[in-house]
Amino acid sequence: MLSVKQVSKIYEGKIAYRALTDIDLTINTGEFVGIMGPSGSGKTTLLNLIATIDEPTTGEVLIDERNPHKLKKDALAKFRRRELGFVFQDFNLLHTLTVEENIVLPLTLEGKKVKEMKEKANMIAKKLGITDIMKKRTYEISGGQAQRAAVARAMIHQPKLLLADEPTGNLDSKSSKAVMEMLETINKQDGTTMMLVTHDALAASYCNRVVFIRDGKFYSEIHRGDNRQAFFQRIIDTLSLLGGDAHDLSSIRV
Ligand SMILES: Nc1ncnc2c1ncn2[C@@H]1O[C@H](COP(=O)(O)OP(=O)(O)OP(=O)(O)O)[C@@H](O)[C@H]1O
Ligand SMILES: [Mg+2]
Repeated sequence: MLSVKQVSKIYEGKIAYRALTDIDLTINTGEFVGIMGPSGSGKTTLLNLIATIDEPTTGEVLIDERNPHKLKKDALAKFRRRELGFVFQDFNLLHTLTVEENIVLPLTLEGKKVKEMKEKANMIAKKLGITDIMKKRTYEISGGQAQRAAVARAMIHQPKLLLADEPTGNLDSKSSKAVMEMLETINKQDGTTMMLVTHDALAASYCNRVVFIRDGKFYSEIHRGDNRQAFFQRIIDTLSLLGGDAHDLSSIRV
């Protein structure tokens, strides 16, 4: 469903910087793929190119056989709104709104009826265990709850592809587990294709496959199989081979 072909990215500026070189990546429908690599290796750059937040310098990105970078502005906005879902490290919730209002935001933009929106919101809240906090404002809830609300918002329009950049970066280990278990459930039950950028080996161990990049280039990839604990250990081992800064191993926890 996602195909990244020979993608390179050079950030132009006073000093041009090559952030990605000839990346090839295919993600099949229903797959849950993690992207790992040292700080500065190009993970966010890659995610932003797929999210159409930025454009590749060379190469192409195809989502469901279409190249979103070729769409005109309005069509691109619609494509993003309908086909993609985003989750970020800092939750990106709007503080003047309640949790429920935040969750239905993507539907509001589509001009859906209030009753339909509320029904959908309640359904997804139930599934994600956040029914109790729906009427609260975002400053009245915990980080873990905020991230679950952000995932609910990213999923309410049933996107084909969910893109997450360090979704557990600001969470303690208990909340991280809750968020990852939730993503895993959504991936399994709804078959939503997911791509997750993370430093966190525990979070990555919930993926079906982890792709490692270093210095903007493909380094290696490993597949999970049925044992998450064993996969976690293989991720840690690969990270230590990969090198990079201490930050990469700062979040080891089982
Ligand atoms: N807008 C930009 N202009 C110039 N250089 C950039 C820009 N964005 C990122 N870079 C550079 O590109 C490289 C890759 O950055 P990127 O944000 O993709 O790394 P990352 O793997 O996500 O790192 P981290 O783990 O720290 O989030 C870095 O060296 C960064 O300094
Ligand atoms: Mg990043």
